[in-house]
Amino acid sequence: MTVHKIAVIGSGTMGSGIALTAATNGIRAVVVDISDEQISRAKKYHQKQLEKSVAKERITQDEADIATANLSYKTSMEEAADANWAVEAATENVDVKKSIFKKMFDVFGDDVVLATNTSSISITDLASSIPKAEHRVIGMHFFNPVPVMKLVEVIKGKKTSEETTAATIVLSEQMGKTPVPANDFAGFVSNRVLMPMINEAFHAWSDGVADPEAIDSIMKLGCAFPMGPLRLADYIGLDVCRDIMMVMYNGLDENPKYLPNQKLIELVEQGHLGDKTGQGVYNYEKG
Ligand code: NAI
Repeated sequence: MTVHKIAVIGSGTMGSGIALTAATNGIRAVVVDISDEQISRAKKYHQKQLEKSVAKERITQDEADIATANLSYKTSMEEAADANWAVEAATENVDVKKSIFKKMFDVFGDDVVLATNTSSISITDLASSIPKAEHRVIGMHFFNPVPVMKLVEVIKGKKTSEETTAATIVLSEQMGKTPVPANDFAGFVSNRVLMPMINEAFHAWSDGVADPEAIDSIMKLGCAFPMGPLRLADYIGLDVCRDIMMVMYNGLDENPKYLPNQKLIELVEQGHLGDKTGQGVYNYEKG
């Protein structure tokens, strides 16, 4: 099956990155979001990234123009119905995602793969919301920033077909990525390992072991991390980090080791979500 157009549901950090990556690899991408504001942010992000790539001579102006032409933006899924692949990249919340899956089932054709970029939610559980199409549901977990990060974690649900899996591998490669399989446990591999470490960095900060700058410097210089865990949490989005911890807590026998740190919860409740709001663990308002 040749994918000629991908519908990306959700135009936040990840959705905008997935769409841009598709567009720069010759695949048309339509971005769908319920928020006009998010749509215009995605558009601006795409323009800026393409301009940057041309300025740095990573792509030519012609290639940037083709990528721009490959991108479109809609506020209703129905307007994206001609896509022959769909990937959901909306808020990390089971109920939100299940309602999106029901809509994707209604809107897209019978042979369209319905993928999800969820970081932690069970693929089998999401697929159960559309019993007639469970074989077409799969986890296609990109990493942030999508245009740069090479990995796609591919997660089959209980009923995902081999055909769906094979097509996901082909599309991931077509988008310049390296697909690697993981089994359907909350958090899969990447977040099962990463998120408890980020959460522990919040505990270390709360306990007064060190301030955020020192925690991040120690992990960068001592463990060769490109980014400290608290800086990374801001980059991912503190709400996303909290939500992933809760999905793992609920999905892995309510083991208290997966409960999100109180300081993390408080920052989210104050609306300090990290890079995307200009304030998280660190302040970014002055750039
Ligand atoms: P985000 O908060 O930046 O964006 C979420 C977007 O979903 C928002 O634009 C929101 O308006 C939209 N949305 C909510 N309900 C919708 C609906 N019914 N229809 C269409 N759009 C809707 O979140 P982000 O960071 O892009 O995360 C999206 C997904 O990707 C989550 O499942 C997250 O766990 C996953 N993910 C996030 C990573 C990260 O580093 N932020 C990395 C890998 C996966």
